[in-house]
Formats: sequence, structure tokens, C-alpha cells
Amino acid sequence: MKTLQVDLGQRSYPIHIGRGLLRQTELLKPCIAGSRVAVVTNTTVGPLYLDGVLKALAAWNPISVELPDGEEYKTLDVLNRIFTALLENRCDRKTTLVALGGGVVGDMTGFAAATYQRGVPFIQVPTTLLAQVDSSVGGKTGVNHPLGKNMIGAFHQPQCVIIDTDTLSTLPDNELSAGLAEVIKYGLIGDLEFLNWLEQNLDKLMARDPQALAYAIERSCSDKARVVAADEREAGQRALLNLGHTFGHAIETGTGYGAWLHGEAVAAGVCMAADLSCRMGWLKPEELARIETLIRRARLPTRAPKSLSSGQLRELMGVDKKVEAGKLRLVLPKGLGHAVITQDFPSTLLDETLEQCREFA
Ligand SMILES: NC(=O)c1ccc[n+]([C@@H]2O[C@H](COP(=O)([O-])OP(=O)(O)OC[C@H]3O[C@@H](n4cnc5c(N)ncnc54)[C@H](O)[C@@H]3O)[C@@H](O)[C@H]2O)c1
Ligand SMILES: [Zn+2]
Repeated sequence: MKTLQVDLGQRSYPIHIGRGLLRQTELLKPCIAGSRVAVVTNTTVGPLYLDGVLKALAAWNPISVELPDGEEYKTLDVLNRIFTALLENRCDRKTTLVALGGGVVGDMTGFAAATYQRGVPFIQVPTTLLAQVDSSVGGKTGVNHPLGKNMIGAFHQPQCVIIDTDTLSTLPDNELSAGLAEVIKYGLIGDLEFLNWLEQNLDKLMARDPQALAYAIERSCSDKARVVAADEREAGQRALLNLGHTFGHAIETGTGYGAWLHGEAVAAGVCMAADLSCRMGWLKPEELARIETLIRRARLPTRAPKSLSSGQLRELMGVDKKVEAGKLRLVLPKGLGHAVITQDFPSTLLDETLEQCREFA
């Protein structure tokens, strides 16, 4: 087992990474102050892993809440089911919540913990690669609103993050690839050595080699922990973690819910950001090609779908009026393993990227 630390003063916490950690009571114990625990999971992850977790938590008289599975259930309505279960079971302010699942369960449980009786502690037990390398670390929690994704939420750091890499054995292939998009992102924004390692080890990751996966998770968490420790509330550099996301969100919104996984849209978005950097002379053509090759090897898309026109993409990115006012900010690679947050890109070059970086464009 490896243990990393997220350094946030009094809100610091450990990230444990290893095999079979779900069932280890000793890891949970230091993170639970009161005498009650409530595990939140969903209808897919529950049948696979809930029993083991409840056994490990037996000393705390655990209750469990099973939510429906899907991003469309990441709502205030469904969140209320967690509160109802907690109240029905007379859970007090010392109850610790445990999020057992992917990013949706993690974000919802974290937000429930941030607000139940004005805040209770919680533990992240992420079970998707995306949640293990990204959403379980850093304390962003929340739900969607019909008018916008993640629009209702709070910063609330967990007591600890317990990453059992064995859970990845049941993860569908496309979800594994989606997680790899965020992994590749860390290499691109600030870790060239890791990017090189990824190029050498991608086949192992795709084959779910446990050691390779554990290393990629560890390195991603340590990169994210460093960024979060330096800028917990995203006043500046934490925004670098959004590389590919402005393009990606345009694809997600434009294609409608569920057509593209988040990680798939981020992958195409990373390639589009790199394409723009290349047009600006910030990346060499061969560096752009290296990025696209790596994304392709992870069986991820490098282009936006042809069903979206460049005009639609541009509008969805909020470019329309904002570019005139010079407001759109993008995270763009500047050399491999380095990225900047900038408003300083020619609008015509962005148009070219949006036109060219579509399938069959
Ligand atoms: N808080 C943050 O900083 C942050 C960062 C990135 C993403 N997010 C959020 O995370 C969410 C996406 O997370 P995700 O990609 O984990 O999606 P998800 O939670 O929907 O999980 C993907 C699918 O995999 C299933 N699943 C989970 N673990 C499994 C396992 N071990 N075996 C088999 N199936 C399993 C889930 O039930 C679901 O069907 C989005 O809502 C996004 O907004 C938050
Ligand atoms: Zn993301």
C-alpha cells in the first residue's frame, strides 16, 4: 500500500492506494470520530462492493443508502434521499458518511456531508479510475441543476481517500479509457516525466496491469494533491486542471447527456487545445502528434463529432460575445508537460481549430 498526503493545514488528509483496501477496518478507523457511519453507493456498485465495506464498518453500526445510477440522478431531488435516510436513522452530527462509487456518488455524498446538520465528516472510497485519479481528491462536491452541471455545491474535504485498485477489475472498458484522459492531462499540464512514462506504459494500463495502474493512480493523485494544496479554492493555478475541459464541455453539452462520457469529451478537448497551441507556435507539430497518438492508443477520441458545427462549438464555449470582450479563458499547452491559463489567443486561430478538429472535417 502507498499513502500520500494532501497538505491543507488542519484539513490535511491521507490518500491510501492499494489492493483489497475496501475491507481494511484499520484504515477506516482513524477517519471516524463518532459512533455512526452511513455508506452511500449506487445500484451498480452496491451489489459488487457494499457487503465488504459494511463488514469492515460493522463496529460503527452502519446504515447504507443506494442511489440510482447515472449522471442524470446527480440532482437535489436524489440528494434529498440521503438526508431522509440519515434523519430516519437518527444520524447525528458525528455521523461519518462514506462515498462508495464513482464521481457521481462521490460528489453527491460529499455535498450531503458538507450540508447535513451544517457539515459532517466523510470518506471517499472511489471505484472508477476517473474518481480515483481526480474527483475523490480536492474537496469539490455538488450536484447538477437543470440549467447547469455542478452548479450547486461546496468545497468540503474528506477525512481520507481509500483507493482499492481491485475495484477496477469490474469497470467497463470505456470507463477505464475515460479515466485515462484525466491521467494524460496531469502529464500534459505539469509532469513531462509522467507523460513519457505513460507513452511507455499505456499498453499495460489498457491491459489493466495492476502495478502500472497503481503507479498511474499514485502519480496522478500526487500531482493533483500538489495543485490543490497550493490553490484549494481555485483562485489561480488549480484552473490548470481544466485542460481540455472548455472544449470538452462544449462537446458534452452539444451532443446531449450520455452520448459522450466526460473523459471522452476531455480527451477530444485536450487534442483541440493542443491543436490551438500548435497553431500559435506553442507546440511543435511533432509534439501535437505525440499527444494525439497517446490519446488514440487509450481508445479515446481526438476530435469533436462532425454533428457539431464549428459555430455551434464556438457558441457552446461561450465564445460568441465573450471573445470580443476578451473574456474567454483557456488552458493551453505551452511545450510538452507545461500549460498556461490564458485569454491571449487569436480568435481566428480558435476558429480554425474548431473547424479542423471535427471528425472528417
Ligand atoms: N469533484 C471533482 O473534483 C470532480 C472531478 C471530475 C469529475 N467529477 C464528477 O464525477 C462524475 C463522473 O465520475 P465517473 O466518471 O466516476 O462516473 P460515474 O460515477 O457515473 O461512474 C461511471 C459508471 O461506472 C459505474 N461503476 C463505478 N464503479 C464501478 C466498478 N468498480 N465496477 C463497475 N462499474 C462501476 C457507475 O455505477 C457508473 O455507471 C461527474 O459527475 C463529474 O462532474 C468531479
Ligand atoms: Zn474532468
